[in-house]
Amino acid sequence: MIRKASSNDSVARIICFLLVVTIWAFVLPLSVEAAQISAAESTAQLRAATNKILALDATHKLLNTDCIKCHKSEPADIKRAGGKHRTEVTCLDCHIDHLPSGTKTIPQCSMCHDPAKQAHFALGARSVCLKCHRNPHTPLNITIPNKHWVNKACETCHPEKGKEFKKYPSKHSQKNCTFCHPRKHKRIERCLQCHKPHAPFMVFKDCLRCHKPHSPLNIHYASNIPNKYCGACHTDIFKLLSKSKAKHGKFKCAFCHKNKHPTVPKCQDCHQNIHSETILSRFNNDCLKCHRDPHNLLI
Ligand code: HEC
Ligand code: HEC
Ligand code: HEC
Ligand code: HEC
Ligand code: HEC
Ligand code: HEC
Ligand code: HEC
Ligand code: HEC
Ligand code: HEC
Ligand code: HEC
Ligand code: HEC
Ligand code: HEC
Repeated sequence: MIRKASSNDSVARIICFLLVVTIWAFVLPLSVEAAQISAAESTAQLRAATNKILALDATHKLLNTDCIKCHKSEPADIKRAGGKHRTEVTCLDCHIDHLPSGTKTIPQCSMCHDPAKQAHFALGARSVCLKCHRNPHTPLNITIPNKHWVNKACETCHPEKGKEFKKYPSKHSQKNCTFCHPRKHKRIERCLQCHKPHAPFMVFKDCLRCHKPHSPLNIHYASNIPNKYCGACHTDIFKLLSKSKAKHGKFKCAFCHKNKHPTVPKCQDCHQNIHSETILSRFNNDCLKCHRDPHNLLI
């Protein structure tokens, strides 16, 4: 018996080898080696005998249907989640040769995913690809490591995000993409997992009314943003304007402070030639000398 086989896996393998070999013993003229396998006393001997079979028979080429006789997990993986590696290619398209005589046993990804055709395929050798595509037999089962170099990989498909980070530097730009998009592709951490809102009523979607996650200091908002959002920080002005009976009191903050924070308008952007030059010049052209405060006009 084989004493060295320790795990269930290797026992299963060995049983499988024996089975295959028994079958082959009938179909193929390999009885000598089959006998050697039956007589094998250790895993090493079994491997040697199997290898001999795989190498010996010049007339018998391995077929795709043969692999499963000895390898269980890879065909199972492919069946479960092989995606296009199941439908578009076969075992032998990737594993052209077999040990012990074969040299092209494990393919480079670049064999089929031409680095010249797509930046994503030029990230490096197979070992780099396998850092995210951890199992070539389940290629879309991706686990992304939390390392800064992944930014470069993400940017092969999302180049605009890298550009945005550079154009609007912030503390977010210094982070790895995986700081907010950890482990799984398309996963998103929400602002409120890391930040307190400016006011209790604010939820995640509200943050995006003013901030973009990849350029958070470049603050923009739409002209219809409700005043209470500005009021979260400008509490006094918000109260003042809300109470004002003047026509300004009905306006949105963003009607005057247009689009980008902080923008300060001039009265003359909207009001022209209201009073005579002589009166105005006497008050240094300062409208607020008489009207007091745009948020609380004296009327
Ligand atoms: C008769 C049993 C048997 C069959 C059939 C078989 N293999 Fe193997 N295969 C083995 C054994 C045993 C090893 C381990 C060899 C070693 O480690 O020396 C191995 C190793 C491999 C490896 C690893 C190579 C490396 O460089 O590490 C790949 C890939 C492989 N087989 C693919 C296949 C594919 C694809 C098929 C079908 C076309 C197949 N095998 C059919 C027994 C088999
Ligand atoms: C798209 C290419 C591709 C296809 C198709 C493919 N493989 Fe693989 N296979 C690989 C690569 C790449 C590796 C090396 C993985 C690594 O280094 O971790 C590998 C590794 C292996 C190994 C060695 C595993 C180990 O742990 O040493 C076996 C055995 C194997 N494949 C069998 C198969 C069988 C059987 C099929 C068909 C059912 C198959 N492969 C289909 C690319 C492929
Ligand atoms: C023998 C050729 C071959 C090799 C080698 C190969 N692939 Fe593929 N792969 C394909 C083909 C063909 C497709 C489907 C067409 C496409 O999307 O370009 C594909 C598709 C994929 C997909 C998308 C799968 C899906 O279901 O949409 C991923 C991810 C992938 N390959 C990653 C890899 C990685 C990583 C490696 C190296 C470990 C690799 N491939 C090696 C041929 C190959
Ligand atoms: C940092 C992680 C990472 C690395 C490294 C990586 N990929 Fe990907 N790859 C992804 C993600 C994420 C996707 C998108 C999957 C999706 O669409 O859901 C992807 C998609 C793919 C696809 C399918 C989509 C397409 O454009 O055809 C292929 C093929 C692919 N990668 C091949 C490779 C190859 C080859 C390498 C190595 C040169 C590699 N990948 C390195 C993360 C990575
Ligand atoms: C091979 C190309 C590819 C790579 C590499 C890639 N992505 Fe994607 N990503 C896509 C595609 C395609 C989509 C879907 C776009 C859509 O739905 O409009 C997407 C969507 C996303 C989404 C949005 C999810 C949603 O629900 O809207 C996020 C977040 C994302 N990717 C982050 C990343 C990060 C982080 C990386 C690097 C680890 C990365 N991607 C690498 C192709 C890629
Ligand atoms: C995974 C955690 C995380 C998420 C998610 C996150 N942030 Fe941040 N953010 C940080 C950290 C850490 C800093 C730097 C804090 C420091 O050093 O004081 C930061 C800084 C900022 C800054 C100040 C930038 C600077 O350069 O001063 C703003 C604004 C900001 N975040 C807004 C947001 C918004 C809006 C969202 C959602 C769209 C968000 N953050 C999502 C962790 C996060
Ligand atoms: C500080 C946190 C943070 C960092 C760092 C970060 N993101 Fe995001 N990202 C987010 C948030 C939050 C969203 C969701 C925005 C939304 O729902 O509109 C998002 C959305 C996305 C989207 C999909 C929506 C869109 O705007 O197209 C992609 C793609 C994306 N991020 C890619 C990246 C890439 C690539 C990196 C690294 C270069 C990165 N992100 C770094 C927080 C971050
Ligand atoms: C009405 C617009 C607006 C909304 C909505 C908004 N912010 Fe801000 N946020 C700002 C402005 C303006 C600043 C810059 C204040 C400054 O210059 O110090 C800022 C600064 C920040 C900062 C950095 C300074 C600090 O307070 O630590 C963080 C973090 C931040 N916002 C997170 C968020 C989050 C999270 C949300 C969603 C709950 C959110 N913001 C919603 C306008 C907004
Ligand atoms: C997170 C708190 C916060 C929010 C929300 C916020 N602001 Fe501010 N705002 C500030 C701070 C802090 C300053 C002073 C520092 C500066 O100039 O950036 C400021 C300054 C201003 C200024 C004066 C700039 C100057 O040069 O005197 C205006 C105008 C302004 N904000 C309008 C708005 C409007 C309109 C909104 C709503 C769309 C808003 N703010 C939302 C924090 C905020
Ligand atoms: C009718 C136009 C108008 C509306 C509506 C308006 N503002 Fe103003 N705001 C102005 C003008 C004009 C100034 C510049 C006053 C000056 O020159 O001193 C100003 C100045 C400011 C300043 C900086 C000076 C200061 O007083 O601290 C802040 C902050 C501000 N507004 C916030 C707000 C907020 C918040 C709202 C909504 C609650 C709002 N404004 C609504 C026109 C407006
Ligand atoms: C973004 C445009 C805008 C800005 C900036 C602006 N106003 Fe107005 N203002 C208006 C509009 C619109 C009305 C209403 C006109 C009407 O209904 O006839 C108004 C009305 C007024 C009124 C009449 C108030 C009433 O209740 O009858 C006064 C006075 C006035 N503005 C003064 C000012 C002063 C002073 C400033 C600068 C500190 C200023 N405005 C800045 C748009 C603006
Ligand atoms: C000397 C004080 C004074 C100064 C300076 C002043 N105003 Fe007036 N303004 C008034 C008075 C008083 C009224 C109301 C009586 C009227 O209709 O003439 C008024 C009325 C207005 C009205 C309402 C007109 C209408 O038809 O309802 C607007 C708009 C206005 N002012 C804008 C401005 C602007 C803009 C400036 C700066 C360029 C300014 N004012 C400077 C005293 C002043």
